Amino acid sequence: MKTQVRLQVNGFEYDLLIEPRWTLLDVLRDEIGLTGTKEGCGKGECGACTVVMDGEAVLSCLVLAIQAQGKNILTIEGLAREGRLDSLQDAFVKYGAIQCGYCTPGMIMTSKALLSKKPHPTEDEIKTVLSGNLCRCTGYVKIIEAVRNASRTEAGE
Ligand code: FES
Ligand code: FES
Repeated sequence: MKTQVRLQVNGFEYDLLIEPRWTLLDVLRDEIGLTGTKEGCGKGECGACTVVMDGEAVLSCLVLAIQAQGKNILTIEGLAREGRLDSLQDAFVKYGAIQCGYCTPGMIMTSKALLSKKPHPTEDEIKTVLSGNLCRCTGYVKIIEAVRNASRTEAGE
């Protein structure tokens, strides 16, 4: 039986009729149409589905949509402002940290939560926080370089 929920995503409110077993990932992609958040493993192992919820990076495949009520959810679609990419998006492009791009939204959202809490992370801190985000293409070096440079850009260095 479906139930009524209200989700706040990227500053917009969505009133939705959903099944209680549906994950936040299901609802973001299939009900709201925000397909930037990717499904990889569907069981908490790859990080492709990462979004930011109340400032914390979470795996949206492991969060029930009903648990996300009352939370402030940020997805990759919510980063650009007035047609301008967020500094992390910009750095991923500039430093060649994207190949197939499937892991990229999750990488960026995990990094976003890190930089909002810790604007000047060390390389080790970046590696630790991204250790749950898998990439089959890039070898990670450019991803880490992009996050480091985005933190410098945000700091105006
Ligand atoms: Fe959620 Fe892989 S799809 S962790
Ligand atoms: Fe292809 Fe990371 S760029 S999986």
